[in-house]
Amino acid sequence: MLFLGMLKQVVSRTAQSKASSCRKLVLPWQFLGSSQHRVPANVNFHSTSFSEAEPPRVLITGGLGQLGVGLANLLRKRFGKDNVILSDIRKPPAHVFHSGPFIYANILDYKNLREIVVNHRISWLFHYSALLSAVGEANVPLARDVNITGLHNILDVAAEYNVRLFVPSTIGAFGPTSPRNPTPDLCVQRPRTIYGVSKVHTELMGEYYYYRYGLDFRCLRYPGIISADSQPGGGTTDYAVQIFHAAAKNGTFECNLKASTRLPMMYISDCLRATLEVMEAPAECLSMRTYNINAMSFTPEELALALRKHAPDFQITYCVDPLRQAIAESWPMILDDSNARKDWGWKHDFDLPELVATMLSFHGVSTRVAQVN
Ligand SMILES: NC(=O)c1ccc[n+]([C@@H]2O[C@H](COP(=O)([O-])OP(=O)(O)OC[C@H]3O[C@@H](n4cnc5c(N)ncnc54)[C@H](O)[C@@H]3O)[C@@H](O)[C@H]2O)c1
Repeated sequence: MLFLGMLKQVVSRTAQSKASSCRKLVLPWQFLGSSQHRVPANVNFHSTSFSEAEPPRVLITGGLGQLGVGLANLLRKRFGKDNVILSDIRKPPAHVFHSGPFIYANILDYKNLREIVVNHRISWLFHYSALLSAVGEANVPLARDVNITGLHNILDVAAEYNVRLFVPSTIGAFGPTSPRNPTPDLCVQRPRTIYGVSKVHTELMGEYYYYRYGLDFRCLRYPGIISADSQPGGGTTDYAVQIFHAAAKNGTFECNLKASTRLPMMYISDCLRATLEVMEAPAECLSMRTYNINAMSFTPEELALALRKHAPDFQITYCVDPLRQAIAESWPMILDDSNARKDWGWKHDFDLPELVATMLSFHGVSTRVAQVN
């Protein structure tokens, strides 16, 4: 009975905290009874308090994918090369290995994670390890292990050592019953991929750990991310990266989505800047733990049209992959990111014309067109 009474107090305080805008609420978790989790009753027992003047000591997991190396470069410029550790289970290419600290970190090995956080005095963690939508459907047990069990390890270690934690979510966290145009932050989320289900789980678990243990969990729902110098890792929006490689190589591209499939997209530098900005935002500005961020939305047909303004001979054909098409049709067309803009000043720099010009110039296409003309 005593426990039930306390639980009611906790629930009613949680409800009040939503009304009282920007105030962070740390619940009296020690009253909530014992848990099977590895997070000790006193979660701050192992933590060290860092002075505000000291830059964070950063760990990036899954850092050798499409986004991790770019994030490391950005964070190293901000916090110093040696304060940002890139990690993965894959072997790094030479240029990455020599560009700053790199270590092996398997997120399924909890002991390994604890050692890293302790030995390197980690205070901020960017958790990028994941199996994305298409590869996740191809190997559901592995996706479940990496995206769900791995996340549990990360949450526990971050809560235990008082680490500020960023985990990206995705447009894939929505499903066919979510409003698609636009998709608000709070709405029905019933995705039909293991990737989407694991990301809804991430959003909810992160928010739960925030209220339950005071974990400083921050999360952004990324659109499809377009990058010039890194390859996508098996998602449904990959075509929007591959099309530029193809345009540069042979001027033609076979697209695996229908011409009219509209999806939210973002250039990588906007995505990484948003990630740093939300991590640096004062806690009192954040009214939610998970925010949509938006930049542009387009269809393959519209992207091809924009490409042809620079490379008039570019040709696109379509050979639809039913799996990816079904996934894309269950995802948002446009994200409503008004809360991110209001709370912590999010603003994107790249719309479709800037994206196309930047990507083509990286691949040397505009130079070639200019020479031909
Ligand atoms: N790229 C996008 O368009 C996009 C869009 C929305 C969200 N996201 C999210 O951003 C994050 C990074 O995405 P990405 O595109 O760089 O992914 P990616 O697939 O390119 O890379 C993921 C990395 O995780 C690593 N990994 C796999 N199993 C691991 C394990 N057991 N331990 C440690 N690392 C492991 C892989 O080796 C790989 O390098 C992911 O969480 C993804 O869900 C990406």
